[in-house]
Amino acid sequence: MSNESLANLLREERRFAPPADLAANANVTSEAYEQAAADRLGFWAEQARRLSWSTEPTETLDWTNPPFAKWFADGKLNVAYNCVDRHVEAGNGDRVAIHFEGEPGDTRSITYAQLQDEVSKAANALIELGVRTGDRVAIYLPMIPEAVISMLACARIGAPHSLVFGGFSADALATRINDADARVIITADGGYRRGKPSALKPAVDEALTRPGTENVRSVLVVRRTGQSLEEAGGVWTEGRDVWWHDVVDRQSEQHTPEAFDAEHPLFILYTSGTTGKPKGILHTTGGYLTQVAYTHSAVFDLKPETDVFWCTADVGWVTGHSYIVYGPLANGATEVLYEGTPDTPHQGRWWELVQKYGVTIFYTAPTAIRACMKWGDDIPAKFDLSSLRILGSVGEPINPEAWIWYRKHIGADATPVVDTWWQTETGGIMISPLPGVTATKPGSAQIAVPGICATVIDDEAKDVPNGGGGYLVLTEPWPAMLRTIWGDDQRYRDTYWSRFEGKYFAGDGAKKDDDGDIWLLGRVDDVMLVSGHNISTTEVESALVSHPKVAEAAVVGAADPQTTQSIVAFVILRGTANAEDEGLVAELRAHVAKALGPIAKPKRIMTVAELPKTRSGKIMRRLLRDVAENRELGDVTTLTDSSVMDLIQTKLPSASTED
Ligand code: WT7
Repeated sequence: MSNESLANLLREERRFAPPADLAANANVTSEAYEQAAADRLGFWAEQARRLSWSTEPTETLDWTNPPFAKWFADGKLNVAYNCVDRHVEAGNGDRVAIHFEGEPGDTRSITYAQLQDEVSKAANALIELGVRTGDRVAIYLPMIPEAVISMLACARIGAPHSLVFGGFSADALATRINDADARVIITADGGYRRGKPSALKPAVDEALTRPGTENVRSVLVVRRTGQSLEEAGGVWTEGRDVWWHDVVDRQSEQHTPEAFDAEHPLFILYTSGTTGKPKGILHTTGGYLTQVAYTHSAVFDLKPETDVFWCTADVGWVTGHSYIVYGPLANGATEVLYEGTPDTPHQGRWWELVQKYGVTIFYTAPTAIRACMKWGDDIPAKFDLSSLRILGSVGEPINPEAWIWYRKHIGADATPVVDTWWQTETGGIMISPLPGVTATKPGSAQIAVPGICATVIDDEAKDVPNGGGGYLVLTEPWPAMLRTIWGDDQRYRDTYWSRFEGKYFAGDGAKKDDDGDIWLLGRVDDVMLVSGHNISTTEVESALVSHPKVAEAAVVGAADPQTTQSIVAFVILRGTANAEDEGLVAELRAHVAKALGPIAKPKRIMTVAELPKTRSGKIMRRLLRDVAENRELGDVTTLTDSSVMDLIQTKLPSASTED
């Protein structure tokens, strides 16, 4: 079934060759693959020369104690110097680093010279607050320039940061403060979300009443909304809380960056695993910065003089760390930073910003692309998107249908789409087409970027042949790899390196098509077993989304006495489709049967208005399984909007169909 279904998906396969001018001027050509294959470590040593080192490394990789890697271990550098100062020294101080757009419409453009001043002042302020090299700083901020400035200030003084996404609760914040033993917290009174101020500081106040957070000495607070703290439910604690404008603004703009070892910790970022204690993923400096700078240049073909880059992720996720902060700024890019949601005050807000800033490279997530599909083609059509030349996707498998919509309606049917596969743990992009080299295929991340070794293996750890499916693994260490789980080396070994000896197992299922291109099929835990056939949720979802009336779909396997599991689908219809349409469910089931074969036909299909998602936009299939199996819902605390589940549950008995 699996191979057959893939063949079905590929039947309509189209390939899009790179635009000729892009290919002719691309930062990276196909030679990079050959060069990296011939001498992988030499290739990475060369990429490390993109950075400015105060001591050039002579070693590339130390893998004598796997799975604990050291990259460029005898080199020394300062990450903030690489992301800011060196661009000013090179004469580009007047170039805009960040075009900030607040949700209410306030704006601020920050040049590299101004960024250098701001980062230096923030670094001096942290030192005044007693932060020393190696101390952890927790950052709990909205998407405002101070988030980027704070991260760079920490990097500048060698204090690893731990960002906690602003949508997380006081409990989640407390757990992360405790695990990293953070000494200082940088936060704001709040930020703007969906047209309203949304408070943050009260959650910090609450978190700091929890056991395990006693070592927090100072809370540095940015005034963003001007909302009264007391009215928002917070308290100002004298001696602990200080305003950014009181402490940072009066600091000197001079700060001499110190060089740190390439393996000095840069940040800890907690993965929002669905179960168990969150894992503090540890990243270090030299290797990480090398890979994010390289991939940002190669995958997005960044031309720092002319491009305007925009990654819509939140800085609180790894995508924001690597492709808002470290990769783009190391490359001297000009970029957009937007505080709010895509539909505030209207559903064309993103496209309005693309037009306003002349964005050339746009990087977002499939969940957002599908939301835009649902809102309708006419919305992006109202804006001039002709500046765009590259579109990226990350976070989930992108269904071919959404990929094609993205290319057609955002990219004028001409702009390459790069589907980039990676993880918090990998630090940087691992699998992706290169826009000037690869003929792209809708729905496939295709091949590992130069210098990265990824493959698909079976249960016996053997490479699957083309056309086969199995587990996605990484077979060689890479520069931006996580170094460990903070404080838990054994969990690091067990989680990532124990399933297949000597290989990093990422947790994702994948297939190789007849050309050897990789198709991501979602987490292996999500694979369904129906009458002896393994069926991936991603494939059935893609088949559903390829129906013109469906905007988004989530599929789960529910326990079934006859077939082990049966397929249950939850679908969101496109703007014009009618949920009461009698024949729709039958039509959709027939559509899936035609695309993938009768075995993949969902037993039940429910139309819903929203799907349960984590705050980073991933569908929480675990909760949908609870619904499909008529169980009480499990933990909903990582859900963006818990009312979604009430709505879905009320749908259950009436909208289902069986045969
Ligand atoms: C998981 C990692 C990487 C930054 C954002 C997510 C899924 C990510 C893709 C893609 C298919 C993808 C995988 C991966 N994923 N990108 N292009 N195609 N799946 O980081 O929260 O650590 O999640 O996201 O399942 O393992 P993360």
